[in-house]
Amino acid sequence: MGNKLEHLALIMDGNGRWAEQRGLKRTKGHEAGAEVIRDITTYCAKQPTIKSVTHYAFSTENWKRPKYEVDFLMKLLNNYLKSEIVTYQKENIRFLAIGDTSGFSKGLRDRINETEEKTKNNTNLTQILALNYGGRDEIVRSINRLIDKGIKITEESISSALDTPYSDIDLLIRTSGEKRLSNYLLWQLSYSELTFTETLWPDFTPDELETIIRDFENRKRRFGGI
Ligand code: FPP
Repeated sequence: MGNKLEHLALIMDGNGRWAEQRGLKRTKGHEAGAEVIRDITTYCAKQPTIKSVTHYAFSTENWKRPKYEVDFLMKLLNNYLKSEIVTYQKENIRFLAIGDTSGFSKGLRDRINETEEKTKNNTNLTQILALNYGGRDEIVRSINRLIDKGIKITEESISSALDTPYSDIDLLIRTSGEKRLSNYLLWQLSYSELTFTETLWPDFTPDELETIIRDFENRKRRFGGI
């Protein structure tokens, strides 16, 4: 085996198109997408090298969507966390949220905090959901935390003040054929390998992920060296 995949990040794109292709409402695509998060997380929990998987679930730009879609996504997230607690405990998965959730409803914030609290001692895999997340916003909030504490700004201090205590992503996958970063994990993606697949997120499977991981393992990562 070549490269070791410890931290995987996913941009789950294409739910709306998947639904529209089937003559369904866009919200049906999000529902199907939530099931795929489950499958992929369970797959990751069974891989010995993978320690964290970070899903882009709601961006700071997603508030621009129609209110009914935003409301639906919030409800879906609440239901997802409510039912997922069983899997988190069974598979020994820790749940963490990154992003600025201060604008979410109290009920949803309580659900997020409770899920983080209940799973905080789980060690097999950390599933991170990026919620009201923007990469620039995270960097700005991180720098302000350091300024407030009078800590010097360095690469190390910014890394340690981010929403989660990690900084590097080994592999980013974006589904649906779009080839953009969309303000995702800008600091943590500096040296990541990138994979773009045409598959729409609700059609993404652990089998496809496995193929992408094998390709990642064989890539030459130089980190700026030769
Ligand atoms: C992009 O599809 C997807 C999102 C807006 C975020 C991902 C959301 C889910 C997978 C739903 C479930 C989430 C949780 C955490 C329960 P899109 O709507 O932009 O698709 P399109 O580009 O085809 O319109």
